[in-house]
Amino acid sequence: MGIDLARIDDIVAKKGRTPDMAIPVLQAIQEEFRYVPLEAMEHIAKTTQMTETQLYGVATFFAQFRLTPVGEKIIKVCHGTACHVGGADGLTEALEESLGIKTGENTPDMKFALTSVACVGCCSLAPVVMVDTTTYGRLDRKKVVQIIKEIKG
Ligand code: FES
Repeated sequence: MGIDLARIDDIVAKKGRTPDMAIPVLQAIQEEFRYVPLEAMEHIAKTTQMTETQLYGVATFFAQFRLTPVGEKIIKVCHGTACHVGGADGLTEALEESLGIKTGENTPDMKFALTSVACVGCCSLAPVVMVDTTTYGRLDRKKVVQIIKEIKG
């Protein structure tokens, strides 16, 4: 899938082309594309003082950067202790079944990504699922599938 290299040029023009600007440039690229495409790093290396090795090093060192595309909405099933006890495995199973994907994958239409996370800090609501920044608590298989259906519209 080709990316719009003109957008990359705009970002570089705004943020800067020197090596110390690698992080802000990569952050802006991730904001735009929702991940950092390899193609983008190759292009930046060709057109600025940053090198591919440096950019790749930064992008893989910091956990905030994603190197592969991710679905529009990220579903995070909490598998911390309280949620595990409360049935997180069942929620994951139900979501995998209903979306037709495994944890760590995107739906083919790129609407959703399904992930598993550690405690998200609201154990009293266990078991918990977050969709982007919204938290849904006291879930069961039926409820979680219903929520995703509603979001899907
Ligand atoms: S264990 Fe899931 S919110 Fe704490």
